[in-house]
This record gives sequence, C-alpha cells and structure tokens, in this order.
Amino acid sequence: MNWQAADNRYDILPYRRCGNSGIQLPALSLGLWHNFGNITPFGVQQSLLRTAFDNGITHFDLANNYGPPYGEAERNFGEHFLRDWKPYRDELIISTKAGYDMWPGPYGNFGSRKYLVASLDQSLQRMHLDYVDIFYHHRPDPDTPLEETMRALDHIVRSGKALYVGISNYPAPLAEKAFSILRDLGTPCLIEQPSYSMFNRWIEDGLTDVLRKNQVGCIAFCPLQSGLLTNRYLNGIPADSRAAHDPRFLKPDAITPEKLEKIRALDQLAQERGQKLSQMALAWVLRDPVVTSALIGASKPEQILENVHCLDAGPFTKEELDRIDAILAGN
Ligand SMILES: NC(=O)c1ccc[n+]([C@@H]2O[C@H](COP(=O)([O-])OP(=O)(O)OC[C@H]3O[C@@H](n4cnc5c(N)ncnc54)[C@H](OP(=O)(O)O)[C@@H]3O)[C@@H](O)[C@H]2O)c1
Repeated sequence: MNWQAADNRYDILPYRRCGNSGIQLPALSLGLWHNFGNITPFGVQQSLLRTAFDNGITHFDLANNYGPPYGEAERNFGEHFLRDWKPYRDELIISTKAGYDMWPGPYGNFGSRKYLVASLDQSLQRMHLDYVDIFYHHRPDPDTPLEETMRALDHIVRSGKALYVGISNYPAPLAEKAFSILRDLGTPCLIEQPSYSMFNRWIEDGLTDVLRKNQVGCIAFCPLQSGLLTNRYLNGIPADSRAAHDPRFLKPDAITPEKLEKIRALDQLAQERGQKLSQMALAWVLRDPVVTSALIGASKPEQILENVHCLDAGPFTKEELDRIDAILAGN
C-alpha cells in the first residue's frame, strides 16, 4: 500500500504569505543540501521527508549540485517522488537552483541563459518532475549581464518549467535591480534566499528593507548555523554530527570557545523561555514578518519534530531581544 500522510498535517505549523504573491510557505521548510547524497541511507532520507510533510512542511528545497556527488540529492528526491510524493504533488512547493559549479566547461556555472535553461532541464529529469514551483539563480554572476540572467528566469517561467522564480545570495542593491528587471518583464520575483541566523545578520544591513519595499518574500537558509545554534556541540563534537562526519562546510575549528560561550548563554535564555535553543534560534529568525520561512536541514526525524514547535513559546519580549543582542555582541 502507498504511504499516506498524516491527516492532521496542516494543524501544526503556521503558513506565511510570501511577499505580495499568492503563495504561502510553511514557517519551516526542509532543505536537501546535506543528508540526501550518497552517504545517507535511502531509508533515513525517506523518514526525514515523511516526518517533515506529516508535520506541515510543504516546501522541499534543492539545487542542481546538492549531493555528494553533484545531482545526487535531486536523483534521490526523484526516487522518493515516484514512491511517495506523486499523489501529493499539488500540496508541495519544490524548488531547485543553478548558479554554482555543476558540469565542466564554460556552460556549467554562474548565470548565462545557456547554463540556467540546460541545468533546469537536467534537474527536472533527475527529479521526475514536469515543473518546479520555484527556480532560483543561486548566486550573483559578476560577468554575465544581470538582464541576461533575469531574461532566462522569465523565459523559464513562460516555458512552463517553473511556476515562480527567485534569487539567492544577492546583496541588497543587486537584488533591487533584479526585482525591477523581473517586474518589467512581467515575471515578478517571488522570493530571495539569503543566509540568516543569530550568528550571521548581514541581511539586516539593507536587504530586509529592500525586500519589504519590493514586497518580495524571504526564505532564510542555515538558520541554525548548520547546527551550531542547537545543543549539538555543548559537550564536544558528537560522532554523528555534521562537523564530525561531513565537515565540507562546518569545520570543527569553527566551533571556537568564544562561540561556545555565546551558545551556552543563548541556551540558558532558551531554557528560561521554556524552549530548546534550536527552537529559539528559529523563532528569532522568524521574528520579523519579512522572513517568510526558515529553511532548515535535519539528519534525524526527531530534529524536525523538535523544530516544528519553534513558535510555541510565543513572541520575544523586548528584554529578551536585547539580551540576545548583548550575548551576540559578547557583552
Ligand atoms: N542558497 C544557498 O546558497 C544555500 C546555502 C546553504 C544552504 N542552503 C539551503 O538551506 C538548507 C539548510 O541548510 P543547513 O542544513 O545548513 O541548515 P541548518 O538548519 O542551519 O542546520 C541543519 C543542521 O542542524 C542540526 N540540527 C537541526 N535541527 C536540530 C535540532 N533540533 N537539534 C540539534 N541539531 C539540529 C543538524 O545537524 P547534524 O547533521 O549535526 O545533526 C542539521 O543537519 C539547505 O539544505 C539548503 O536547502 C542554501
């Protein structure tokens, strides 16, 4: 018998409107950057996806090069799609991206129309999909004219291969130009995907204002700073943690005594609020309504079960927000 999703799946998480679009996203979305390549058993991947959807996470985020190796997360997702997700296609927002290194030669990287169109065709084949809900340009390209990249996004929507488009890792002034070009082309930008967490606040320096002004949504990636903003590393580096077993992007030497001191102080505040540090870190990213969704990763279903309750403790008081600022400033 086919897998059946939980009947109460829409009672757990709030859904937040993405800019001024018709789309609402779950307050938490699941990314497949880690734990969906060839080093994670298929059954673990399956339970992560099922637990997420059973708990209201209707948005899965991918990119052409997620793996390892490149393409493997999309290939694995394609297998999961055929087994579990086909009946639920219209309840899902599935995104992918192109912009980083993907295949050899001058046409497999950055932001040309040639790369974006070919890459999305390959992604759709790997995932066994007719279309994605959101297609992103993954990072700015210093050499390709912005007009060319945005025209490629517009073309992709008109060809029916994506319903909406987004940009990722664009700084505020470039994002604003991209929004303007896309608006003029008749394909407004749905969403920007920047990094954002208590340890990484760059978007507060202009980007959030631009998003608000242009009424574009925002999905914040690495809201837990890849696991640092949880209780994962409070007592050393566990063998099953990302820093130990897949340290491509979270190196053990990034877990400094100075950071641990801040993490401990934040953990203390989270306990006073009656929640886990992971939950407080997610609630903090979501405190500004300009952030539509926090884009988490997970290696265990229990982490998802914990994270979906991130908003249960209620909004922050001004005193709590001031205390977080002071902890982060090292005071
Ligand atoms: N656009 C871009 O350029 C870009 C770049 C990076 C990421 N992203 C997107 O953002 C997504 C999320 O990135 P991320 O995985 O780094 O996000 P993250 O949510 O900051 O970190 C996820 C990691 O935190 C740990 N964790 C999660 N919940 C936990 C809990 N309740 N308790 C303890 N530990 C917990 C797990 O690490 P362990 O493995 O140690 O258990 C998990 O793998 C990616 O999948 C991708 O979709 C986009």
